Amino acid sequence: MLEVSNISFYYQSNVPILTNLTFSVPNGKIVGLLGKNGVGKTTTLKLILGLLPIEKGTITLQDCSLVKHPIQYKQKINYVSDSHELYNNLTGKEYLNFIADMYEVSAQERSKIYAPLIQAFQVEKYLNQPIKNFSHGTKQKIAIISSLVNDPQLWVLDEPMTGLDIESAQVLKKLIKARTDKGKSVLFSSHILEICEKLCDIIVFIQKGTITKTVTQNNFIDFSLEDIYMEVVNDEPLGKDFSIKQDN
Ligand SMILES: Nc1ncnc2c1ncn2[C@@H]1O[C@H](COP(=O)(O)OP(=O)(O)O)[C@@H](O)[C@H]1O
Ligand SMILES: [Mg+2]
Repeated sequence: MLEVSNISFYYQSNVPILTNLTFSVPNGKIVGLLGKNGVGKTTTLKLILGLLPIEKGTITLQDCSLVKHPIQYKQKINYVSDSHELYNNLTGKEYLNFIADMYEVSAQERSKIYAPLIQAFQVEKYLNQPIKNFSHGTKQKIAIISSLVNDPQLWVLDEPMTGLDIESAQVLKKLIKARTDKGKSVLFSSHILEICEKLCDIIVFIQKGTITKTVTQNNFIDFSLEDIYMEVVNDEPLGKDFSIKQDN
């Protein structure tokens, strides 16, 4: 379980980006962080990854604190960034090996993890070429493959469908779903309702730098996520007979 408690964050001292942000990602669940562009999704994910300093609040994964036990914490997590800034002078294969080395994954274990992913995303033919020659989508596929090398307890993805073709987006959706079979969890950000509606067990709405609503799949039996989103984000009521239960 990832627990994010009362996180606040500023890039510049007088401009708060996140204020008392609190939510959790239970084991075996897929959680979507849904919100408009610029609302603080990437910032939230970077804080969870330890890529930005925590100024206020706490973050723990499987009861392990990011601040107190950063190495143990980081062994349990991995991340697909939205930037695709891979090491451009490495070949695809060198990059995959570099990430596996960082996580101290043995040669045997890494090939067991990488081989089916390389096949599923059909990137075999790019592995001996430098990353600087790759398209945006191919970089994204290599980033996705490398991020599973440590079989992370929590897999974090920032706007993961961006730039993927239809086949690869389907592969990614299957991979996301398959994580939960082993009790692993997934947290991804998106500004796209349909992706969250299809994939997520829990959707966390982020608005003005804080969590304004948490909904589960049960909430979309009577109403579409779009209806719920309009109510939460634009404050348009769904009608007097409808109320969304808070799960937290
Ligand atoms: N490095 C930075 N320095 C200053 N402001 C930033 C930086 N990165 C992001 N921001 C600002 O923080 C806010 C949240 O950004 P971000 O977390 O990227 O939002 P989202 O991922 O939801 O689109 C935005 O207003 C953005 O302009
Ligand atoms: Mg973002």
